[in-house]
Amino acid sequence: MMPAAGSGQRMGAGFNKLFLKLGEKPILIHTLDVFEKDPACIGIILAVKPEERADIQNALEKFMITKVKALVDGGGERQYSVAACIRAYTDNGIVLVHDAARPFIRRLVIRELVRMAAEHGAAIAGVQAKDTMKFAPGGIVEETVDREKLWIVQTPQAFRYDLLAKASAQAEQEGFLGTDESMLVERIDHQVRIVESTYDNVKMTTQEDLVFGEIFLGRRRQ
Ligand code: C5P
Repeated sequence: MMPAAGSGQRMGAGFNKLFLKLGEKPILIHTLDVFEKDPACIGIILAVKPEERADIQNALEKFMITKVKALVDGGGERQYSVAACIRAYTDNGIVLVHDAARPFIRRLVIRELVRMAAEHGAAIAGVQAKDTMKFAPGGIVEETVDREKLWIVQTPQAFRYDLLAKASAQAEQEGFLGTDESMLVERIDHQVRIVESTYDNVKMTTQEDLVFGEIFLGRRRQ
């Protein structure tokens, strides 16, 4: 399940940042390509803005992405876009939620996420904090947090479908808005495991991420 219906305001491109190119392809296509080439991926549900549906469909054809089984209308918040994907899926098994804006996810990490989710129900990608971390509400330091215990969390996030659907339905019913799907699953008291990912799995968010993106892309091609 891939939310791709954001507006990318922080990128400041004036249009959906997923259409920006890294090398010769749009960011969205790089991300889809990872799953297109992964034999374990049986299909992709993509949440898009209704007004971008035609452009995205054209891009899928042009770049020969064949695994997108459904385009669903995204919502005003990322969580609502993912909820639309969840509603469009009826099968069981393991599902991954992955931001379309993270093109550098490694297949080894995906494989481990699927394995862990099959065993434990929920597993998310993350990296350990490298910097010293402070808890500082309002900019005043209250505490230095033990960074050994802190993880910076990414996507993909992998779940047993029934668990994700239950967590999502409950959040919707209670009007809870989280920043990732793990939060929704944590709320229904299911343990979530972290799978160690890589620091280059960055979300293309601001202009400088594009600079990193070009470098990472060049490195992968070597
Ligand atoms: O804005 P941000 O990069 O944090 O969004 C993460 C992912 O969620 C992006 O791939 C974006 O397209 C998607 N998104 C969405 N619907 C929204 C907001 C973001 O599908 N309303």
